[in-house]
Amino acid sequence: MTEKFEAPQAAGPAREGAAGTPTPVGVGAGDPVRVVHDHADRIFSWRYERERPQLVTLYNKASASQWNSVTDLDWSVDVDPERVTDDEPPVLSLARRAATIPGSPLASWGEKEFTQLRVEMLKAQLSQFMHGEQGAMMTAAKIVETVPWIDAKYYAATQTMDEARHTEVFARYLSDKVGDAYPMSPFLQGQIFGLLEDSRWDIAYLGMQIIIESLALAAFGELLRRTSEPLLAKLLRYVMSDEARHVAFGIVSLNELYRGMSSAELKERQEFLIDNTMRNRMRSTTPEVWETMGVSVEEVMPGLLQAAGEVGHGPFVAFQRAFFSKLVPNVRKLGLLDANDGYLRNHWAQSGLLEFEHADDTSADFESYDAVAADRAAATSAA
Ligand SMILES: [Fe+2]
Ligand SMILES: [Fe+2]
Repeated sequence: MTEKFEAPQAAGPAREGAAGTPTPVGVGAGDPVRVVHDHADRIFSWRYERERPQLVTLYNKASASQWNSVTDLDWSVDVDPERVTDDEPPVLSLARRAATIPGSPLASWGEKEFTQLRVEMLKAQLSQFMHGEQGAMMTAAKIVETVPWIDAKYYAATQTMDEARHTEVFARYLSDKVGDAYPMSPFLQGQIFGLLEDSRWDIAYLGMQIIIESLALAAFGELLRRTSEPLLAKLLRYVMSDEARHVAFGIVSLNELYRGMSSAELKERQEFLIDNTMRNRMRSTTPEVWETMGVSVEEVMPGLLQAAGEVGHGPFVAFQRAFFSKLVPNVRKLGLLDANDGYLRNHWAQSGLLEFEHADDTSADFESYDAVAADRAAATSAA
């Protein structure tokens, strides 16, 4: 599926969309944009009654926990891009090990190159966060338009604002403190553009609130554990507080919808989860990082895999565990593990994913994890 999505085309004389439609108004030749055609219907609702108390609670919570990137974060701090994380990312220790293998393309590397790799890895990670957050903003906006329930429209509008702020803070942190951004990875493009194009409104929820937000929470949590840089740490805590609500929004909404779905419709959702999570398992390191370092990913990968085999695990093992420990319990709560005689349960059992069935409970995280409210309460009691 990813091959369908190419990197954003910056230029080209034939400025036409995929369906031969003219270039949208306001998009200039040479602009680094991507036109996406959405196949979902927009739904206008005349039912204004507040009928879904859990969504009303989430909406009120979201309204009260809005924060401001300019006044709530201290951008004046100096950041050393080489020391943003306290330790090296796991892939760096594998690269050090791979460099000792005879004939390694990294054999000539010294501390200067390894330090640059560390910075490039951070830039690549923050870049994918930034692009993913824009994707979340677009997806939340799509939900505002396509979900039939007024309470869900209201909530998705707050999420759209949250995701705008997340995009903005990662973009600013990257450009002010770390360096140039990398392009959106083909993997992430495949994930997000598929959601934006899909005609079924719940797929935007399933793909974003359930899969990608679980990925994001795992990735943000891992980076937060590894950094004591105060600006990034606070930014991540605040972003994660918002994300915890977004996951809950997905669970509450889809729970209601999936209770009324036919077996055939549920099977489609189960297939969607199989396709999209297996792809995550095969997620590999950003090739552009290696190209920046002057080696191709094809050259370097055999040595990295050999090093991973020697130390007993791959560079993404901890991350994958964190991801599935959030994803699998939420999918169970939606009834998708057991629908159709346990179709998804059987599939995931073969991939060893059922060990996560009763892991983290992120659907209720927003009640306990609200760093914004906690900081405000502490400031009030100190005053
Ligand atoms: Fe976000
Ligand atoms: Fe989010």
